[in-house]
Amino acid sequence: MYNKRVLITRIFPDIGAESLKAAGFSVTVWNNDRPMTQEELIEKSKHHDALFCTLTDKIDKKFLGECSHLDVISQFAVGYDNIDIPEASRLGIPVGFTPNAMNDATADVAFGLMIATSRKMFYLHKKIIDGGWGYFRPNANLGIELKNKTLGIYGLGRIGTEMAKRCKGAYNMKILYHNRKPNEKAEKELNARYVDFNTLLNQSDVISVHCSLNENTKGVFNKEAFSRMKPTSIFINTSRGGVHNERDLSEALNAGLIWGAGLDVTNPEPMQPDNPLLQMENVSVLPHIGSGTIEARNEMARLAAENIIEFYKNKHIPHIVNPDTLKNK
Ligand code: GLV
Repeated sequence: MYNKRVLITRIFPDIGAESLKAAGFSVTVWNNDRPMTQEELIEKSKHHDALFCTLTDKIDKKFLGECSHLDVISQFAVGYDNIDIPEASRLGIPVGFTPNAMNDATADVAFGLMIATSRKMFYLHKKIIDGGWGYFRPNANLGIELKNKTLGIYGLGRIGTEMAKRCKGAYNMKILYHNRKPNEKAEKELNARYVDFNTLLNQSDVISVHCSLNENTKGVFNKEAFSRMKPTSIFINTSRGGVHNERDLSEALNAGLIWGAGLDVTNPEPMQPDNPLLQMENVSVLPHIGSGTIEARNEMARLAAENIIEFYKNKHIPHIVNPDTLKNK
């Protein structure tokens, strides 16, 4: 392994580079506080055998065409929509990722956004800063309560399950979900009920999105979907901004088709400061911090390094997106 060179594309928690060095790899870290341009990424990757990257790196057909020599790509994230997986698979390049590490961290953000939105917390915080506290007004700044309401999870996997547990435990919320396939464990443990998309839209008081971004989920929350939701409902998205149509979301909020929205992901990212959503009372926006805890990010770095180490040591990748690529290694 001593002759294998790993390119680490950002400044990640130290445990990533350190585990690789301890295992005998030669490691290059891009030490700037910005992502590489694709040209820089291609140029640097040409001199490396393995890539330790993340969602700001564009690993598309062009990149893969120029860097088809790579032995393995290890993504520091649970989502990998920045990577052209069919093309990586066609070229026989295995892609690792880091699921589970951020289940609690991301569910906490979804849960926090739900509460913050239901009580207009972000808006009211800004109002104080702007000198607008004023005097007590019995009928002003009213939010809505969550107790005994219905949570609709779009994409009930590992993170969605953690969100559902929080909502059930704290507010006795009833859990509906819509998935590609039924989640029997959640049905048993959380009394979650599988419903079609339309039922999820029209029966949920809160809809929380936890799916991955792909051709089937892109723009699914559009004008049509928002118009089928309850006018008192809250839309939460902590997965990928591409799952909702942001202009349609703004219009739905303005038209009162839905009551509020909490976003940790936007479309595009970063959200521009003049985005009208940021001025709305019932909207809470965060800058994509779902996995942003010390614990989660350390574990993600550890797992991303482990995927590379195990690949070279045992031709095995503990968390792999395209396992077929390992068959002929
Ligand atoms: C973060 O967005 C991730 O996919 O891990």
